[in-house]
Amino acid sequence: MAKRILTGVKPTGQPHIGNWLGAIRPALGMVNEPGVESYLFIADYHSLISVHDAEELRKLTREVAATWLSCGLDPKKTLIYRQSEVPEVFELAWILACFTPKGFMNRAHAYKAKLSENETLGSRDPDHGVSVGLFTYPVLMAADILLFRANEVPVGEDQIQHLEFARDIVEKFNKTYGNLLVAPQAKIQKGAALIPGLDGRKMSKSYGNHIPLFLDSKALRKSVMRIKTDSLPPEAPKPTEGSILLDIYRQVADPEEVLSLESQFQKGISWGGAKEILFEKLDQKLTPGREVFNDWLRRPQELERLLSEGATQARAQAQPLMSELRRAVGVGAMHSLPSSPA
Ligand code: TRP
Repeated sequence: MAKRILTGVKPTGQPHIGNWLGAIRPALGMVNEPGVESYLFIADYHSLISVHDAEELRKLTREVAATWLSCGLDPKKTLIYRQSEVPEVFELAWILACFTPKGFMNRAHAYKAKLSENETLGSRDPDHGVSVGLFTYPVLMAADILLFRANEVPVGEDQIQHLEFARDIVEKFNKTYGNLLVAPQAKIQKGAALIPGLDGRKMSKSYGNHIPLFLDSKALRKSVMRIKTDSLPPEAPKPTEGSILLDIYRQVADPEEVLSLESQFQKGISWGGAKEILFEKLDQKLTPGREVFNDWLRRPQELERLLSEGATQARAQAQPLMSELRRAVGVGAMHSLPSSPA
């Protein structure tokens, strides 16, 4: 059987260059390999945990879909759909919840982070701000994966624990009912090195140091010009290690171009000049995708249609397993009952 790769993206904010270089590009590298069946879905119900504005959630969902499509996702090769249009996911999530020790969820990093945040803030309720949705997030994520019998799941390091939960749940379920579920493997992207943001910390929306992916050229240039530099004069040699500018440039430029900029660093180049070179490269790399992105957003109906068609196919693929699972656990109608002995 072909290897199945599946990944989900939570629509919570406008994608940035760090998402592209660190997650989207490496994941597309995997799904575009020959002999692979691949699935990419927008985890809109996961976002409902934090996004409580309907228009905003719809907009974010479309933006994420348009981003992946404009970064090179081929919908003919990779099934792209919206999680909320595949109700089988939620049916499976309940079954899995019944095989998930509550203690697993108590240990989930995101939940524990919330508890310690409450403690720091001196909140009287340790669970302040924790919905049951947040608490059971990993169960829904396991359902996303297990419903499609995915073998490999490209994710960031922060998701490793979620994949371990999924594997543990599979083990518990299969022990009771036989090997119906497939244990998935996390595929942590090698070389998806940390992409530094404007201030040198990991690029992240929550630090406010990100460069949004599809800014127009003018705004992109402005953003690159904000990258933090020191006060070395133009003619001074500049270190080539630990440089935010070079670290981003290395991700997008050809090897000769990198060598050339490195030698300019060693000889002495003004920060403004180096930023101009980085901007030009980024702009050149991003312009084609930006056009595709804007084009999709101008045709939201078409994007909606693409996602719905994807969901129809995804459901068709998921239904046989769902029937097996219902039968295995003893719920739902039995359409072919063994005839009772006369
Ligand atoms: N939790 C993932 C994240 O925040 C998103 C996600 C939801 C996901 N369901 C998934 C990723 C299933 C991979 C597989 O990045």
